[in-house]
Amino acid sequence: EKGTYPHFMLKEIDEQPFVMRKIINEYQNENNELKLDANVRQAMKACDRVYIIAAGTSYHAGLVGKQFIEKLAKIPVEVHVASEFSYNMPLLSEKPLFVFISQSGETADSRAVLVKIKEMGHPALTITNVPGSTLSREADYTLNLYAGPEIAVASTKAYTAQMAVLAILAVDTARAKGLALDFDPMQELAIAANAMEILTDQKETIEGLVRNYLETTRNAFFIGRSSDYFVCLEGALKLKEISYIQAEGFAGGELKHGTIALIEEGTPVIALVTQAEVNYAIRSNVQEVVARGANAMVVSMKGLEQDSDAFVLPYVHELLSPLVTVVPMQLLAYYAALHRGCDVDKPRNLAKSVTVE
Ligand code: F6R
Repeated sequence: EKGTYPHFMLKEIDEQPFVMRKIINEYQNENNELKLDANVRQAMKACDRVYIIAAGTSYHAGLVGKQFIEKLAKIPVEVHVASEFSYNMPLLSEKPLFVFISQSGETADSRAVLVKIKEMGHPALTITNVPGSTLSREADYTLNLYAGPEIAVASTKAYTAQMAVLAILAVDTARAKGLALDFDPMQELAIAANAMEILTDQKETIEGLVRNYLETTRNAFFIGRSSDYFVCLEGALKLKEISYIQAEGFAGGELKHGTIALIEEGTPVIALVTQAEVNYAIRSNVQEVVARGANAMVVSMKGLEQDSDAFVLPYVHELLSPLVTVVPMQLLAYYAALHRGCDVDKPRNLAKSVTVE
């Protein structure tokens, strides 16, 4: 039930800090030990490469998950769009582990890959919000997202839950392999949950940004580098699917290779700046688009902010920044759709779970 909320999407955005805390509680015991299925731990230790398979928003979570697993657990990861993998299978490593990410657990494109790789005899783990779903039943192992039912067609809390569970999987594998981490990832996850709550309390500010940047535009661009780029892809998907604004996410460095030709007087460009390493590079991309007339909205993280930035995110560990950066992107999409009179929870032409290939 929506309760006092006008839309499920807004309710589900607001639930994200609580989902984070639920996930931490479900996956960590009183002694701060992770309690993952021992078989999952074994499968992660035994593989030489992880293949993440997903669609849409879940694919975007997979891109971030690759960073977690490679940086923390030191296992190479490939992330594939399910519908492409089916017809254009890459050369596999000797001991692959397939990880399916799916909110519904029913996505036909992902299931087609699962059927194929099971025939080939490879192990599979499904990360889903619906234990007992097709992808969960047909895989060898399942990790639950604990996000609660997601009703709005646009996925929000499942995306952040997917990234959190992927982070926990990476941390568990790192610990199982005896790899030392130079920060406390579970504590950082709890800090990220608090940051999400600060952001969900800033709805009016974000609604104001929609008025200044997105109310009447036909198109919008999201630019970022490193993990900010992945959030740009998700921010653009959210905006296009519910507000019907043509939106694209781009890697900052790719602009000059073609896309910058699209920038006109007043084109909104939303730039994400949460990674110290690329701060200088992405800010020079912002200058490039501003010089061509763009209406630039910089969303930066505390510590990297400049006076002219439109919005500053509370500080969280750089690796986990996608979990919080996406919250204002979700709210931007929500208010843009609302102000433009779109059906927020049920956008045209879309279904909540895509059970056809
Ligand atoms: C976008 C959205 C879709 C889904 C995609 C995969 O907001 O919801 O892109 O992420 O259809 O669905 P699941 O995760 O159920 O496999």
